[in-house]
Amino acid sequence: MAQVRNNQVILRNYVTGFPKESDMNIVESSITLNLPEGSNDVLIKNLYLSCDPYMRILMNKVEVFEGFPPFTPASPLGGFGVAKVLESGHSDYKKGDLIWGFTRWEEYSLVPSTQIFSKIEHTDVPLSYYAGILGMAGLTAYAGFFELGTPKKGENVFVSAASGAVGQLVGQFAKLSGCYVVGSAGTKEKVNLLKNKLGFDEAFNYKEEPDLNAALKRYFPEGIDIYFENVGGKTLDAVLLNLRSNSRIPVCGMVSQYNLIEPEGVKNLTNLIFKQVHMQGFLVTNYYHLYPKFLEYLLPYIREGKVVYVEDRAEGLENGPKALVGLYSGRNVGKEWRQKQIRKITNRVYEYVKIQPGTANLTFEDLYIAVLLVYNDINKLLPGPHFDPPSKDKVREIIKNCDINLDGEIDREEFFSFIQQMTADTFTYVSQKLIVTMVVAPTIAVATKRATEGVPGVGRVVQRLPNSVYATLVTVAAMWFQNMGQDS
Ligand SMILES: NC(=O)c1ccc[n+]([C@@H]2O[C@H](COP(=O)([O-])OP(=O)(O)OC[C@H]3O[C@@H](n4cnc5c(N)ncnc54)[C@H](OP(=O)(O)O)[C@@H]3O)[C@@H](O)[C@H]2O)c1
Repeated sequence: MAQVRNNQVILRNYVTGFPKESDMNIVESSITLNLPEGSNDVLIKNLYLSCDPYMRILMNKVEVFEGFPPFTPASPLGGFGVAKVLESGHSDYKKGDLIWGFTRWEEYSLVPSTQIFSKIEHTDVPLSYYAGILGMAGLTAYAGFFELGTPKKGENVFVSAASGAVGQLVGQFAKLSGCYVVGSAGTKEKVNLLKNKLGFDEAFNYKEEPDLNAALKRYFPEGIDIYFENVGGKTLDAVLLNLRSNSRIPVCGMVSQYNLIEPEGVKNLTNLIFKQVHMQGFLVTNYYHLYPKFLEYLLPYIREGKVVYVEDRAEGLENGPKALVGLYSGRNVGKEWRQKQIRKITNRVYEYVKIQPGTANLTFEDLYIAVLLVYNDINKLLPGPHFDPPSKDKVREIIKNCDINLDGEIDREEFFSFIQQMTADTFTYVSQKLIVTMVVAPTIAVATKRATEGVPGVGRVVQRLPNSVYATLVTVAAMWFQNMGQDS
């Protein structure tokens, strides 16, 4: 059989400190798409690769995880992923099977069958979930929270790196177990996501808290029963001051320490004695036997929409290094995707308004209508919580801030900045799977126009617009959402 191209992401050299994109290289290799004679291995096409913080540890020269040797310079990175079997030398797998397990960062891989974790039987959920919520990250959250955390109804749970793949699930498991749960994350968007989409009772931005101990006291006046540890360092030290007696700390990860040449010290460990705390590290690899039980527990919740999962995707192997490096600066959960989409909608709406007679730039009324349309669509078309549009005063305030050249109107760049600020809280809740076609948009337009009739100060403005203009605006918004779905 002919050889085909096999692009790979290789490690250039061992890493010290924070990883950089330049520590990895994209190289074009080739592979013959049939099994070597007598091989027991499995030839797979990689479909989704998971980008995980532990990968940085495997870039060290020394072995840290037993059974997980460091990556080898000039060879592809390894990691968990979802793949399709092209040929199999092992009787457990056959051509066409979908599997997830430990593979390499390349298009095609020849892997020993022992590296395959599981055949994928349930394909009514997105396949990519097996690289996250239904894969290694999901099982980690499940094993750590239920086996080590041993939650009881009414207990207080704190999760760090809460918007990450593991943390977001731990928070939802805690809610399903009847606990009170608070998460910490590193951006305002992530905090909003935790509270409004992922069902956390409270969340805070640890980067904006000058005193983490005081922040925890604010959210846990009666103390913490379970701390799901993902970050270590200063957060752990503050948690140690806020524990209840007999509390538990499943130590899942310490992402704040992985890139430090000299790890931070932890000062408050004596609390482990006084509070009789059970603090235990664990590796998901020792809990693989729980996988069938885990699927049985989680799949129904996913199907019923009672557990949701926010994925951050990078398209193409060539974007892998950037995504991996981004994990250590919190540059995940769709930040760049969001920028790209906002640029698209702002250009479209701006162009639309500009062709209206007599308008060079956008006026306050134009902008307020655009804001209402977007919120109307979000509330009408998306499952989940209702989002109140910002008040006119708020819009006015933001417009004032965005009117950089102070001419009382908003030009293209100012409009971009305006929409960015306007949607900062809302954008992360928008479902990436929404399909709205231009065919249904005009119907929605008429319905939404009617819906604004009784709204003081708003109805009048919207009613004055001819139906056709309103429908076009709604269509623009609908196309925006549709494109977001396609691009995600
Ligand atoms: N024990 C096991 O078997 C096992 C298995 C899987 C994962 N893990 C560990 O579980 C933890 C979470 O993994 P994940 O896959 O959920 O991670 P993830 O989705 O990749 O999220 C990582 C997040 O960590 C946060 N972070 C990065 N640097 C930080 C710092 N210096 N201080 C505080 N937060 C920081 C960032 O979010 P912010 O913007 O919020 O800072 C980043 O988005 C990691 O420590 C990982 O190593 C352990």
